[in-house]
Amino acid sequence: MGKVHTLLAFTLQVLYSCHAAPTVFNGFIYHDILNGTGNRNGEIHFSGIKLRVKSHPHSVFAVRGSNAILPCRFWYEPSLTSSRRVRVKWSLLPLLGEQESDVLVSFGHDQRSFGAFKDRVHLQKNDQGDISLIITNVSLRDRGLYRCEVIDGLEDESATVDLGLRGVVFPYQPHHGRYHLTFKEAQKACNDQDATVATFDQLFAAWLEGMDWCNAGWLADGTVQYPIVQPRQPCGGVDLGPGVRSYGARHKHRNRYDVFCFTSAVAGQVYFLQHPQKLNFSMAVQACIKDGAQIAKVGQLFAAWKFLKLDQCDAGWLADGSLRYPINNPRPNCGSQKSGVRSFGFPSPYHKHGVYCYKSR
Ligand SMILES: *[C@@H]1O[C@H](CO)[C@@H](O)[C@H](O)[C@H]1NC(C)=O
Ligand SMILES: *[C@@H]1O[C@H](CO)[C@@H](O)[C@H](O)[C@H]1NC(C)=O
Ligand SMILES: *[C@@H]1O[C@H](CO)[C@@H](O)[C@H](O)[C@H]1NC(C)=O
Repeated sequence: MGKVHTLLAFTLQVLYSCHAAPTVFNGFIYHDILNGTGNRNGEIHFSGIKLRVKSHPHSVFAVRGSNAILPCRFWYEPSLTSSRRVRVKWSLLPLLGEQESDVLVSFGHDQRSFGAFKDRVHLQKNDQGDISLIITNVSLRDRGLYRCEVIDGLEDESATVDLGLRGVVFPYQPHHGRYHLTFKEAQKACNDQDATVATFDQLFAAWLEGMDWCNAGWLADGTVQYPIVQPRQPCGGVDLGPGVRSYGARHKHRNRYDVFCFTSAVAGQVYFLQHPQKLNFSMAVQACIKDGAQIAKVGQLFAAWKFLKLDQCDAGWLADGSLRYPINNPRPNCGSQKSGVRSFGFPSPYHKHGVYCYKSR
């Protein structure tokens, strides 16, 4: 990239000094570029040809474990008769505080994928110009803004496409109570529960669906926010309207809050273990293992509630030592009148309850 641009600047200077009429360059139109510079397949001699790259639609949604196709095409104007070998590069653009990551590069028939995308991505190539990216087995970390970039010799054009995940946001507080997590600890807390720290967009979508939570939590961009549907005195007062309220960016090491976690579909099964007795926490862990499963994580229970419509009016242990149950059909004696996952905090591990287990397929 850097090299391409340096070369480009140099070439433009050359062009300016040789031509009376200035070349339009910010739309990447070139006249009489020196033969072959960067175009080793040199069948053509650029003359006023524009490279175009477009992504449509601009956003795509997927659930965890599914495949996603991020659309992208390139073409030339006016069109060319012969095909050209171009370099294609897909990258995942950073959220605040994250690193840009390479996803895939391709040149001719060679393709390489990187990092977490290794062997999970390829170009669709339905026809000449189709450089849509196929991601298989989408993971929670795949969400974000992707750039599709085409480099043909001196030309370098790109488009962006957003991959959103369908899923569920849940507020999370560890067993030692409210406002205990630094940003790093918040990331770990979500990961431990089969989730990631929610992005603002994810929390915003949850707020639109009615999420109202009076404790502030970290988001993936390092800000701390909370969603309020019913303004009330103890939650920032009644003067502010409903909305997602922000404390802004907080110090990632020094400040401590709760966290909003995000998870998506779960592969496998989450179920309430049918067991003759109630179990203390360590017995509950063992009972799931005996059943060929593992005690379910909080994120797995939320995913099963959301995607598998799990509905069970029995409180059960989860992996973090919390006690919860999922309700899709609200009814008397099963918590509030709203659908949701009911939480009873972290009881003493000596207490006896049911348990939720998770079995992968
Ligand atoms: C460009 O290519 C043409 C035709 O192959 C040739 O006549 C000309 O000398 C070349 N110019 C440069 C700068 O290489
Ligand atoms: C999909 O990815 C997850 C990790 O994100 C992995 O555990 C699982 O085995 C993968 N599934 C397939 C079918 O590759
Ligand atoms: C759970 O019960 C078992 C068997 O009665 C006992 O050995 C174990 O110490 C108990 N653990 C907890 C955390 O209460």
